[in-house]
Amino acid sequence: MAYIIHENLWWWGKSYYIITNDGKAMVGLSINDEHPEAGYVHSLIVLESERQKGIGTKMLEKAESIARDLNLEQIYLQARKGTFVVDWYRRHGFEIYDENPEDGGGQVVAMNKWLKHETLGKLVTKLCEK
Ligand SMILES: CC(C)(COP(=O)(O)OP(=O)(O)OC[C@H]1O[C@@H](n2cnc3c(N)ncnc32)[C@H](O)[C@@H]1OP(=O)(O)O)[C@@H](O)C(=O)NCCC(=O)NCCS
Repeated sequence: MAYIIHENLWWWGKSYYIITNDGKAMVGLSINDEHPEAGYVHSLIVLESERQKGIGTKMLEKAESIARDLNLEQIYLQARKGTFVVDWYRRHGFEIYDENPEDGGGQVVAMNKWLKHETLGKLVTKLCEK
């Protein structure tokens, strides 16, 4: 699959918008200067007629591979509660680290995936919960 990758610099950090060159899907990856070790995955969407063909998985993998190239420690995202997407992300290696993030209005869970130092990362998450 071929992609167009739009890299943007903002006042708060940088973002990558990854779009398939046939326009069927997109995903965003944003890195805030305040947390340069973490990438926020957002705006993942596949055209309705093109779903369930593995394209969403490829987009997520592409975002993850950019995050790895940037040497990020983790990627994280928000997923709508009560939808299949939470399990879908789980199957792609994400775990819930916050059942009710402050900025989610009760509608979402926050999930993350450690790209390295997984054991240490999970320990830090646990300690932060206490
Ligand atoms: C989530 C989304 C990106 C997945 O894209 P996709 O191309 O359909 O995903 P894939 O083909 O790679 O994966 C399909 C898997 O999801 C499951 N799935 C897809 N749609 C589903 C549905 N409506 N209900 C239950 N399971 C579903 C399939 O069973 C399949 O399971 P598998 O991994 O065990 O094979 C796509 O559904 C979408 O664009 N949704 C709307 C936007 C959205 O919710 N984005 C996520 C924001 S957090």
